[in-house]
Amino acid sequence: MAGDDLDGAPEPFFFRHSAQQILFGPGRLSELAAIARARRVERAVAVMDGFFIGGELEARVRDVLGGLTDVEVHGVPIQEPDTGTVEACRRVLEAARPDMVVAVGGGSTMDTAKVARILLSNPGTVEEMAGFDRYYEPHRSVMACVPTTAGTASEVSEMAVIGLEGSDVKLRYRSQNMTAQFAVLDPELLLTMPPAVTANTGFDALTHAIESYVSRGANIMSDPYALDAVRRLVRWLPVAYRHGDDPVARGHCHIGSMLAGVAFNSTQLGLAHAIAAPLGNIHHVVHGKANALALPAVMAYNEPELGDKGRVLADVLGGATAAEGVARIRAELDLDIGLDEIVATEEEREAIVEAAMKSGNVPYSPREPSIEDVRAIVAAMREPVGAARPVPEV
Ligand SMILES: [Fe+2]
Repeated sequence: MAGDDLDGAPEPFFFRHSAQQILFGPGRLSELAAIARARRVERAVAVMDGFFIGGELEARVRDVLGGLTDVEVHGVPIQEPDTGTVEACRRVLEAARPDMVVAVGGGSTMDTAKVARILLSNPGTVEEMAGFDRYYEPHRSVMACVPTTAGTASEVSEMAVIGLEGSDVKLRYRSQNMTAQFAVLDPELLLTMPPAVTANTGFDALTHAIESYVSRGANIMSDPYALDAVRRLVRWLPVAYRHGDDPVARGHCHIGSMLAGVAFNSTQLGLAHAIAAPLGNIHHVVHGKANALALPAVMAYNEPELGDKGRVLADVLGGATAAEGVARIRAELDLDIGLDEIVATEEEREAIVEAAMKSGNVPYSPREPSIEDVRAIVAAMREPVGAARPVPEV
């Protein structure tokens, strides 16, 4: 966990750049036309959340790309993407042979498009191509991601998660060649997001920012992105939750989510994400809500190892400790829930503990956890904390 000590020698670091260009601003969606023109694109496929098909946003995307010879729109079903979803998208892309792939939607749609597109230039099925840090031959098309939620940061990350059809297994993909070249952040696209989606996706972004900032992979390059993301989200996420049509709040949350993504693309995450994964896979808890369940107890556990960063976070989060700060924000977003509402038995809790210990995020936890530690964290998640009460010590 790098600090910002200017007196000692700078610590070694590792940092991956993500999207080549990141564009932010109201109305930026229309920049897709300039990107297509500059690349002399003739054929484009827009991969969109099925929710938008037949609506105003599909019409706008078609309009913006209207100067091209050929534009096809493919709707992705509104569900967690699985290998079947990606194969269907790959078939559409293969038939269209696009010069440009545009993904418009939440993390599921962007992940689907990223994996389907990279399969065009690599042999094998969706399942066969899974794995972290594999080499993928780049595809010749230009790719732009236009997120319509502010949470996953798939628009700037080189990762994707796809379910294995008919199972609880999640396949993970990671390659710099899978990353979109353009991340187009248009806060106008967030103005109609319902409050519950704002809270869930926004808390996911906040968890990315905090876990990245305290990760063992954190460094001189990632810290400014992660900490700015925390500051921005703490200030503006509750506003966006209460006033979804506030363009200023939406803008800051959009940037905060993206900055957290730029940071965790290099740092990885921590125990909140390790615990959130089985809550999603086994109990189908929405990802942001699963992070909200885990983060206060995880931060209470991390506290002794946080040092200066713990004090910085407590200050930014407005709590006596970082754990109290995240519990306060969780309550403001009506996400103060206890695990007992979802997971009833000791056996089910134990299954979560065991799955969490296998997560690739565990080695990045600022405090090295034993299985007993994770068991204690999961036990501390059982009851809601409330905004005023201290988070139980782990
Ligand atoms: Fe996440």
